This record gives sequence, C-alpha cells and structure tokens, in this order.
Amino acid sequence: MRNGENGINGENSKNGKPAAARRPLGNGGSIPAIGLGTFGSDSRSGGEIAGAVAHALSVGYRLIDCAACYGNEGDIGPVLEGAVGGGVPRGELFVISKVWNDKHRRSDVIESCKASLSALRLDYLDCYLVHWPFPNYHAPGCGADARNPESRPYIHDEFMETWGAMERLAEMGLARGIGTSNVTIPKLRLILRDAKIKPVVNEMELHPCFQQGELFQFCVDMGVQPIGYSPVGSPSRPERDRSPGDCVDTEQPEVARAARSHGAHPAAICLKWAAQRGQVPIPFSTNPKNIEANLRAVTEDPLTPQEMDALKGCERNSRLIKGQVFLWEGAQSWLDLWDADGTIPGWRGYGS
Ligand SMILES: NC(=O)c1ccc[n+]([C@@H]2O[C@H](COP(=O)([O-])OP(=O)(O)OC[C@H]3O[C@@H](n4cnc5c(N)ncnc54)[C@H](OP(=O)(O)O)[C@@H]3O)[C@@H](O)[C@H]2O)c1
Repeated sequence: MRNGENGINGENSKNGKPAAARRPLGNGGSIPAIGLGTFGSDSRSGGEIAGAVAHALSVGYRLIDCAACYGNEGDIGPVLEGAVGGGVPRGELFVISKVWNDKHRRSDVIESCKASLSALRLDYLDCYLVHWPFPNYHAPGCGADARNPESRPYIHDEFMETWGAMERLAEMGLARGIGTSNVTIPKLRLILRDAKIKPVVNEMELHPCFQQGELFQFCVDMGVQPIGYSPVGSPSRPERDRSPGDCVDTEQPEVARAARSHGAHPAAICLKWAAQRGQVPIPFSTNPKNIEANLRAVTEDPLTPQEMDALKGCERNSRLIKGQVFLWEGAQSWLDLWDADGTIPGWRGYGS
C-alpha cells in the first residue's frame, strides 16, 4: 500500500529503512499499518521469537504485539532495549501487551502491567489490552477439552472494574492507550457506553475466510481501530484450536488467483487485503524471509479494487480461535463466547 492511501498517513523511518505507514488513533496517536505477532503457538522458543523481533525491527517493523500469557516478554525486552539504545526512536515504536484472564482484579491489572513493562524494559506501553473479556483461566499449552470449573460468562460490572483499572493505567501514563480484544458488538456497545476512557483498538481475528464485517464496521464507526490477528490463517496454531471444517485462507481460489497475478505468496495477498481494508494485521513469523515479505506486502504493489472486491467472496465465517477452553459450566458450545445470536448468554450487568 502506498503512503497516504486509505486513511494511512505516510511517515518515513529516520534510519532510512522502509517504514510501514501509520494509521491515526482516537487518542491522538498513531499505529503502524502492520506489526509482528509474538505468540509462538506453544511451539517456538522465547529465544526464536526474540530473534524474530530483532530481525523485524532491523528491517523496519515498528509494531510488536506482545502479551503476558505468551511467556516470552522477558526474552523480547532486551531486544526492545537494544533497538532503542541503538537508535530506533522510542516514539516510532508501538508496543502492545495484554493482561491475562487470571489478573482481572483491579490490583492485579496494575501489577500485571508493571510486570510486563519490567519484562519488556519499557517505561510505558503504547497500548495495553484486556486479552479476553472473561476472567477464565486455562493453563498454557492445555488441550481442547480443558475446562476450569470457576469459569463464568461475561459479567459486565466485573468487566468494568477491570476496565477501571485499565483507565487508571492510562491516567498513570503507564499505557498511552487501552483496548479490548475478543469482544463482540453487544459487549463493545456496553463498554463504550460505560467507559470513561474509550478503547482505542480492538484486537480480533480477521482473515479472508473470517472477515467479521459487522464487528469490523462497528469498530470503525465508533473510532476503535481494528487490529487483525491470525491474518494469514494461523497455519501453525495449536492443536486445541484446530477443528474439522476450518478453512485454509491461502488455498482459496480468489487468494491464489491474486497471488499468481502479483507473483506473491498467498500469505502476502491476505496481508495486502487486510491493510487495504483498514485493519492492522499482526502476522507471526520466525522466518526472516517471511518477516521481510510480509512488510513488503503492505508497502508495495497493492491489490486492485477488483481484487479487493473478489476477496470479499472468501468469507466462510471460519473462526479458527474458537476459545472453547474458556467455556463455563452450562455453556452450550463455543458459540456462546461470541454472542452468536446477538445476545450475551446469562446477561448480568448494571444498567441492563
Ligand atoms: N488477541 C488474541 O487473543 C490473539 C489470538 C491469536 C493471535 N494473536 C496475535 O496475532 C499474532 C498472529 O496470529 P497467528 O500466529 O495465530 O497467525 P498468523 O500470523 O496468521 O500465522 C502465523 C503462521 O504463518 C506463517 N507465515 C507467516 N508469514 C508467512 C509468509 N509470508 N509465508 C508463509 N507462511 C507465513 C508462519 O510461519 P513461519 O514462522 O514459518 O513464517 C506462522 O506459522 C500472534 O502471534 C499474536 O501476537 C492474538
């Protein structure tokens, strides 16, 4: 994508490397148009991921998507510190972290943010997210059938207590922005109604076979920037997130056709589509060539309007990260996590 297109402001990196353009945020800041994911799908080591972050920063990435539960912030911290010490202006970097589900209580949120800052060797985060809207914990690396008997559905007044702690972090200057992840329209509507400080971003699953058109548009209309996770269809996701019938984005005929005409890998087409549609994709990779190709995908050779239109046809409502390990007793299926019928199951909250 060329700078200036589609609401993206051009901004050249001061060290002469190709910089991804940036998108404006509702808090007056801006976010790079592509980032590097750091969830290693329970299979890549912290050292491998730290190496990927170092390579990404050296070729021009400025957005790094981290989370406490990925278990590797302590590996990534020295890389960020080295980059800033080595001349990457802190103001160019955009680092995200997220509070995990077992740390939703007010004092835990504040302590978790401080622990992530210390591990990442930063004074502030550019954005801090509530990773999931439920305080439902599952152990890292657990199987698809794992359930925690203490799990419960979304309870709005509990979530707003968590959000109040997020707002406090923003007031303390420890997070320049705060945001949501894995919320639905009914939940986000309530959060926007009751928040003192609005979410600036919502991190959500987005790829050609799972476009979430209504939620995407709702975020845009509300001034909440969508960040798209699993943007190339998460081919290395853990076993617990694989189901028969999941679609493979890179094998869709519309994606393959565009890949042939651009002489690009189908993954690059998924990323071009994402950036041109308006979300911020955060592909994960530890392969230096793929890391470079993914950045080039959003800075060069955009898709034509006809190709963008054709890619709308890939929609299969194929959610890959279903979240079933967060289900509570009495839930019917993973669809309950996503308010599939437009209502929040077991709805409880103030002002309802
Ligand atoms: N908020 C949330 O709840 C949430 C949930 C899931 C993910 N996330 C975030 O989103 C990030 C990305 O999601 P994801 O890891 O699930 O899926 P993804 O980025 O769609 O897929 C990553 C996989 O694609 C491969 N890949 C990347 N670029 C490629 C290219 N150009 N050509 C061929 N293969 C390529 C990578 O392999 P190689 O390493 O071999 O390149 C890796 O196996 C995560 O790392 C995490 O930061 C957030």
